[in-house]
Amino acid sequence: MTGERVLVMDYITAKPIETLSAAPQEQRDKAVAALLDLVLRELFIFGFMQTDPNFANYRWQPETGRIVLLDFGAARSVPQDTVEAYRSLLMAGLLGEHGPLRAALLDVGFITPMVEHRHRAALDGMIDVILAHVNRPGLFNFAERGFVERLREKAAPIVADRANWHVPPAQTLFIQRKISGTAMLAVRMKARLPLRPMLAAFLEQAQKHQRV
Ligand SMILES: Nc1ncnc2c1ncn2[C@@H]1O[C@H](COP(=O)(O)OP(=O)(O)O)[C@@H](O)[C@H]1O
Ligand SMILES: [Mg+2]
Repeated sequence: MTGERVLVMDYITAKPIETLSAAPQEQRDKAVAALLDLVLRELFIFGFMQTDPNFANYRWQPETGRIVLLDFGAARSVPQDTVEAYRSLLMAGLLGEHGPLRAALLDVGFITPMVEHRHRAALDGMIDVILAHVNRPGLFNFAERGFVERLREKAAPIVADRANWHVPPAQTLFIQRKISGTAMLAVRMKARLPLRPMLAAFLEQAQKHQRV
């Protein structure tokens, strides 16, 4: 029955992902780690992404601990230059240096050269808030959202300057929707993960994969 317009799937027995929020910390962490791994693989290994992170598209199997991903109506291939731009952004973030981070933010299309030119201090302030949050010792706690307000304060001059208003490229928006949707799920699940080591290990593994 599968054709050009119909994708037939197995029925997968699972519970709504929200059920996971009542599970013990360890199980929530494991499921969120799997979700993050999936996003990273979609972007850096498959080059193909399901870009609809509606919570109803994720389900959970308590018995196996596995995540079920559904709804491939908004699946799309990711252009190689977008993949490379995100790779540079992630590497610059792990490196924690302002210059490469600003360059990567430009490359991905989050900011325009004008923002970098007119609001360098505010931009650097935002980068500092994020780096300080990500580099806090111990596990990364997705439920800890204090940095959002600090980020908003630093961003105020950029937001107030209408000349900066710009929409990132469509490719970036699709990918970003997926990444932020996954992050919001991690927040909802109050996950705690060794985020930095996970990302570093993934990038290393993805690079090996590329060379093959
Ligand atoms: N393969 C499947 N196994 C189990 N449940 C499914 C499956 N496909 C869809 N569903 C259920 O149907 C709902 C709607 O399907 P989905 O593919 O997300 O379509 P829509 O585009 O309407 O969101 C899902 O949220 C899920 O509850
Ligand atoms: Mg759906």
